[in-house]
Amino acid sequence: MEASFWLQVWQEGRLGFHRDSPHPVLIEHASRFLVEGAPVFVPLCGKSHDLRWLRARGHAVVGVELAEKAVLEFFAEDGVEVEPDADGCFAAQGYRLFCRDFFELGPETLGRFASIYDRAAVVALPESKRVAYAQRVRSLLAPGGRILQVTLEHDTPSGPPFSVVRKELSRLYGDLEIEELACDDIIDEVPRFRERGLKYLLRRVSLLQAQD
Ligand SMILES: C[S@@+](CC[C@H](N)C(=O)[O-])C[C@H]1O[C@@H](n2cnc3c(N)ncnc32)[C@H](O)[C@@H]1O
Repeated sequence: MEASFWLQVWQEGRLGFHRDSPHPVLIEHASRFLVEGAPVFVPLCGKSHDLRWLRARGHAVVGVELAEKAVLEFFAEDGVEVEPDADGCFAAQGYRLFCRDFFELGPETLGRFASIYDRAAVVALPESKRVAYAQRVRSLLAPGGRILQVTLEHDTPSGPPFSVVRKELSRLYGDLEIEELACDDIIDEVPRFRERGLKYLLRRVSLLQAQD
């Protein structure tokens, strides 16, 4: 997807992916990837309540999001006024949200993290961008670090969200140890996907771990 696609999604408020509360999957599996007191990185973060949930548990939160509208709305919902620095980083109250193209940023700007949370990020990207995305995410993971990865698998080539099958995750993150934590068909929870013609929608939760 081009940047213009996502900017238009935010402009028009077509936020089907945005949840009103923290994701149950994050809450359920948080202890598997979080390190007490350590910052968490959230690529393609939107204005997710997951950021707030992580922050409330004492983690500094670093996110990257293309759409300034998303970042401004995130802070405005907490009544916080914040200006970006020269890197496009909106920093306040333990958050550092970069309003930038993720593909332009690396560890020299963002740092390296013991914990990374990917929900609706890799599946937001077409196949042609996923290897570059995974390499970039990988470059931000500290030795021994963990990624809590939520992917969707379905029976159409269309997206977003794009279908990412188990084998692809292994291909993208081949050097990480991958443990599948859960896999459920959630098609009945999201009627708009049935309307799009999907027969099933598997939500797979995986824990990816780097060597020490
Ligand atoms: C499907 S949404 C998911 C947002 C968030 N992770 C959540 O769970 O609500 C994908 C987000 O990625 C952002 N995005 C897409 N491409 C991006 C890029 N190259 N760099 C930074 N953000 C990007 C979009 O603007 C959108 O907010």
